[in-house]
Amino acid sequence: MWGKRTGYEKEGRRVKLGFESGEGWIEVVNPRVVHVFAPLHTPEPKSRAVEQPNPAFEDCEYRVSERDGQLEIATDELVVRVYDHFYVDIHDAAGTPICLDYRGGRDPFLRRGNVSIAEGEGHEAMRTSGHHKIEVLKAMEGGEKFYGLGDKTGPLNKRGYEYEMWNTDDPSPHVESHKALYKSIPFFITLKERAAYGLFFDNPFKTFFDLGKENSAYYYFGADDGNLDYYFIYGPEVKDVVTRYTALTGRTPLPQLWTLGAHQSRWSYAPESRVLEVAEKFREHDLPLDAIHLDIDYMDGYRVFTWDNERFPDPAELTARLRDMGIKIVTIIDPGVKKDKGYRIYDEGLEKGYYATDKDGVTYVNSVWPGDSVYPDFSDEPVRSWWADHQKIMLDAGVAGIWNDMNEPASFTGPLPDDVQFKNDGRPADHREIHNVYGHLMSQATFDGIREASGKRPFVITRAAYAGTQKYSTVWTGDNQSFWEHLRLSIPQLMNLGLSGFAFSGCDVGGFSHDCTPELLVRWVQVGAFSPLFRNHTAIGTRDQEPWAYDEETLDAYRKAMKLRYRLLPYLYDLMREAENTGIAPLRPLVLEYPHDEQVHEIDDQFLFGSRILVAPIVEQGKRHRAVYLPEGKWYDDRTGELLEGGRTILAEAPLDVCPIYVQAGTLLPAYPDRKYVGERKIDELLLYVYPGSGEYTHFEDDGESFAYRDGDYNEYRFSQAETEQGLALRLEKRHAGYADGYTMIRVAVHGVEAASVTLDGQPVEFETADGNTELLVPAEGGEILLNA
Ligand code: NOJ
Repeated sequence: MWGKRTGYEKEGRRVKLGFESGEGWIEVVNPRVVHVFAPLHTPEPKSRAVEQPNPAFEDCEYRVSERDGQLEIATDELVVRVYDHFYVDIHDAAGTPICLDYRGGRDPFLRRGNVSIAEGEGHEAMRTSGHHKIEVLKAMEGGEKFYGLGDKTGPLNKRGYEYEMWNTDDPSPHVESHKALYKSIPFFITLKERAAYGLFFDNPFKTFFDLGKENSAYYYFGADDGNLDYYFIYGPEVKDVVTRYTALTGRTPLPQLWTLGAHQSRWSYAPESRVLEVAEKFREHDLPLDAIHLDIDYMDGYRVFTWDNERFPDPAELTARLRDMGIKIVTIIDPGVKKDKGYRIYDEGLEKGYYATDKDGVTYVNSVWPGDSVYPDFSDEPVRSWWADHQKIMLDAGVAGIWNDMNEPASFTGPLPDDVQFKNDGRPADHREIHNVYGHLMSQATFDGIREASGKRPFVITRAAYAGTQKYSTVWTGDNQSFWEHLRLSIPQLMNLGLSGFAFSGCDVGGFSHDCTPELLVRWVQVGAFSPLFRNHTAIGTRDQEPWAYDEETLDAYRKAMKLRYRLLPYLYDLMREAENTGIAPLRPLVLEYPHDEQVHEIDDQFLFGSRILVAPIVEQGKRHRAVYLPEGKWYDDRTGELLEGGRTILAEAPLDVCPIYVQAGTLLPAYPDRKYVGERKIDELLLYVYPGSGEYTHFEDDGESFAYRDGDYNEYRFSQAETEQGLALRLEKRHAGYADGYTMIRVAVHGVEAASVTLDGQPVEFETADGNTELLVPAEGGEILLNA
């Protein structure tokens, strides 16, 4: 397509490339990230994911030279070689090839027979993806693995699968053959023997990814329109790739602490007496809870930003009553605005021309819950600020967070036609270009509106997303089913969402469609307890999915898992703080922390919660034990207290109320005492669990809701431990003191050491021992602690 190279020109961070038939450029973003672009649709990239100014873009030196007909662009870390036909090969600084363009054409495997005969019976016909206007083929290596791509179905490692990016609301059971779900995150990481790198194809049109399915000599990504626009992001470690990708597309900001608590939902809790009943039952059954979600039936005829006056006569009074019980309300808001003359929101938007139109400029109408509805054009700034301003309506009624649903956008009377028009901030575009970023832009408007109206860190949850939506919203994986298969699927989905920058994500615990069995609910809650977002949610007409709707055994096991989550909230909060700083999500596949251990590359049913807690849930009915792979190092079995050697597979016992958990030796783990909800009482005493070994830990404390921490109003603690000849040496340090209302004391609980004497800064201190463990209370200012056995 491109022909021979005709010349080049250096222009700032870009090297402009001429070819016989076309032009493009390579941009040096920083020493390890390069951007490959050709203006096939617009002269300049118009990214919704990579906002400018952008911290990933650094001033950096690079060198350009030409030899043997190839152009070489070298940073301190990478050597990029450009050849005729716009072939691009990337090497590390030592010249080792990392990512090479594949020189052959596509050569898919053969499909035999006439598939239409099978279609007659209702089978899905298997067809090979046709050619796309843009296609980038990269050479694939034998052991290469692929991760990321957001919420896709299938295993953690995507090698051998094909996917599409087209935000899709498909309520049929999500299985491996689904090429697309609700989100489009066109970013993946490849891990090879030598190194990991990421590729981010920043093209919002429908895009295609074949990761070695049609031929094991190459993988490819492509699109039928838009620009050739992709970023190469070098590791060499998987973690480096995630950190650099999220520097480019943005990171999940630190959420309010209560949002990490338990959320309870169903389609729908209504009228208000039912909402109160649910709230009271949570308290009666001693189950921690921070939020109840109101699904579509709180609205007046599904009109967004309204309340049904009969079912919810006084929303502000309801939210106030719940607030007294420590429970916040999150309300759903869909994009579809009911076409209804006299309904203020509809009239206002119509008058201002805020809705998407058909090609003749007539407001486009499709159907969603309210019947005939129109679609706000979130691609245009005035519409985003109009929508943002409306968040105040909900916040004034005491609502604490907004749930954005159906924003793929979903439609009931056929898909939106390709030629539906959007204003797109001054560069008109059609539905093909806006579809995948529609939910992203709606979330952005919602986030901005809540921040403006509340001054607090916004809580937004969205179903549809594009790369970068993590800056504005948490996500859930949409309409799963109460199937064991979907519990299993949720683990690679959440791990891959994390690798794709979405640090704050969860799935409907217990499953959305169908009736959840008691055993499935227990096993699901044991996974949910470690998911950054915890929400039990179910569909209209399914059996009650609150834990008391089952039996005592279920209720007790549910409570046990939720209490563990609440005890670990300061740890999860620290992990979210880490995500804000580095882009690394709390819920991690083992490959993120142990990329050099091939045994973990394809583990789908175990995950890490932070770097040091390994969770190996039961995901099959009737199972009371399972094989667990422990990576290198020493691990404490949370159930037995035993210290186990890693680098091997063990057999774990898992009675119904037990989810096998292993804590790495050397871990310092902050915890809170039992609470019914996040703000129930002030925490004066932080619990610090010490699992002997050597290790360090940074703990963050602030007001849990405002942005004041960005001005220094926070405390930062540094804890460390080492095994010395004198005994276990702990060092607790308050490194930054900016939050006056913090803890006064730290209760240190050392696992597996029965001390004979303990000193704090050289002076003997009081301590207690029981069952082979030691506990002592020290001032939050910390000091040097020595435990002599
Ligand atoms: C679809 C969403 O995925 C689901 O969570 C919600 O309950 C229904 N829409 C009704 O609003």
